[in-house]
Amino acid sequence: FGESIFDSNTIELIKNIANSQYLHFKGFHCHIGSQIFEKESFFKEVEVMTDFIVEVQNKLSITVNELNLGGGFGIYYTEEDKPFEISSFLNEYIKVIEKNISNKNLDIKKVQIEPGRSLVCNYGSTLYTVGNIKNTFGGKNYIFVDGGMTDNIRPALYQSKYEAILANKVNNPKENIYTIAGKCCESGDILIKDINLPKAEIDDLLLINSTGAYTYSMSSNYNRIEKPAMIFINKDKINIAVKRESYEDLIRNDLI
Ligand SMILES: Cc1ncc(COP(=O)(O)O)c(C=O)c1O
Repeated sequence: FGESIFDSNTIELIKNIANSQYLHFKGFHCHIGSQIFEKESFFKEVEVMTDFIVEVQNKLSITVNELNLGGGFGIYYTEEDKPFEISSFLNEYIKVIEKNISNKNLDIKKVQIEPGRSLVCNYGSTLYTVGNIKNTFGGKNYIFVDGGMTDNIRPALYQSKYEAILANKVNNPKENIYTIAGKCCESGDILIKDINLPKAEIDDLLLINSTGAYTYSMSSNYNRIEKPAMIFINKDKINIAVKRESYEDLIRNDLI
């Protein structure tokens, strides 16, 4: 989405917006991607965007007052992810932003960021009940859970990786390689491929961590499956934040 700052037509577009009687041009919004683990990328973003602002101001004789730098701060899903510590990063980030603004003599009055998943993702987990285990003729071990792509579409949509534990067997030795599948009866309804876990049995509790972002908000009623409840836990305080959907909820808007 968006327009490229490297496209010469973009300057013309900004000019049209700035000159429009219907629009009020305030500044720029950018977003360099998601799950970025190098602080330098964000510092470079500030440098590139503030250079671009200088160019726009010089070419169009307008003043840019706002800059939104988007999000993308990487978080932990699996051992492959090496996130930086966010609060110390933000201090460095602010210094880089302030330095660029003052060195380039800009009149930026508002800088925004959109921290996205880094705010909430690690604080949510999804708890499933194991419904069945299947050892296939081809030698694969499947754990089927009472959820799947309806409550977390990310693995099916863009091959996102997750870790999991059997919550009622955390101290048991890991014995088997399993694939965790949902209950949608779709070949893509796989939550985790090849994870080493203790021997699983029906009614075990399987917990997938780092599901606090882009799960409930991206959930669906595919195959008329009800969305699960969402529970907030704060020390010994437990609150139902969102009720579990019922079959009645699923047909609430049906008229005929
Ligand atoms: C414009 C914009 N800002 C912020 C975000 C948040 O990204 P993330 O959750 O990866 O930090 C996104 C996510 O795609 C986005 O498109």
